[in-house]
Amino acid sequence: MGDLAGRTALVTGASRGIGRAIAERLAADGALVAVHYGSNETAAKETVAAIEQAGGRAFAIPARLGSDGDVDELFTGLERELRGQSLDILVNNAGVHSSASIEEVTPEEFDRVFAVNVRAPFFIIQRALPLLRDGGRIINISSANTRIAVTTELAYAMTKGALNVLGRTLANGLGARHITVNTVAPGTTETDMIGWLRHSPEAAAGVAASTALGRVGQPEDVAAAVAFLASDDARWVTGHVLDASGGLFLGPGVFRPS
Ligand SMILES: NC(=O)c1ccc[n+]([C@@H]2O[C@H](COP(=O)([O-])OP(=O)(O)OC[C@H]3O[C@@H](n4cnc5c(N)ncnc54)[C@H](OP(=O)(O)O)[C@@H]3O)[C@@H](O)[C@H]2O)c1
Repeated sequence: MGDLAGRTALVTGASRGIGRAIAERLAADGALVAVHYGSNETAAKETVAAIEQAGGRAFAIPARLGSDGDVDELFTGLERELRGQSLDILVNNAGVHSSASIEEVTPEEFDRVFAVNVRAPFFIIQRALPLLRDGGRIINISSANTRIAVTTELAYAMTKGALNVLGRTLANGLGARHITVNTVAPGTTETDMIGWLRHSPEAAAGVAASTALGRVGQPEDVAAAVAFLASDDARWVTGHVLDASGGLFLGPGVFRPS
């Protein structure tokens, strides 16, 4: 058992990908985990089953983020299952991608990606604050795209930049309650969001070659960074953006004369 025994955690978008790995990791470390999902109930149930088979505790709660009443739906389910317990750890992980340049993005696409990636976490935090215990943790999942200029992901990168600002500013405000607020910025990570990685060995090799550590990221790599920030060991870390990308596009490769 890790050091989260007796703690509770909400992980949004925990049915698949990075969120699922975070939920499994926090549960392995001892937390009771709320596995939030948007529409894929089967995947959410699989996450809960995997946690329980490993000896952990979890429950699934739905809410289609970006739609009317989304936060109400989420917290109705959460508070019902927590039965009066406070929340210790909030991980805003759910997100959607947008592959559109300035010439391509429509107002509808722009609004959709901001609604899910920015508006939802903002108001989830607002709603969570009375439930969150003093000394708790808020961790938002951003992207390495906030430091790497990928022009075909402009609106998406802008949503993640907003999360970086949210984390730093909010950390300053919540310090009085000893709540830490941090941001994890993954690089290219093998999930459904970037399914092309699984279908193109050449693309995967290209991504691996672009990292200092020489491979594609796995959801568990990001979950480990989140688990650190959720732990007591990170009690003095707040307002930070932690890059969890294996050193994606850090700079030129090392010159090795032949
Ligand atoms: N993969 C990468 O390379 C990468 C890199 C940098 C940052 N990130 C960020 O990491 C986070 C997780 O990404 P991922 O790759 O694990 O994504 P993913 O495999 O596509 O999984 C997305 C998760 O978010 C949920 N979700 C999506 N839209 C939702 C909505 N409107 N309402 C409620 N839930 C919704 C999904 O629920 P359902 O299963 O119900 O659909 C699913 O659990 C995202 O914030 C993403 O931007 C990913």
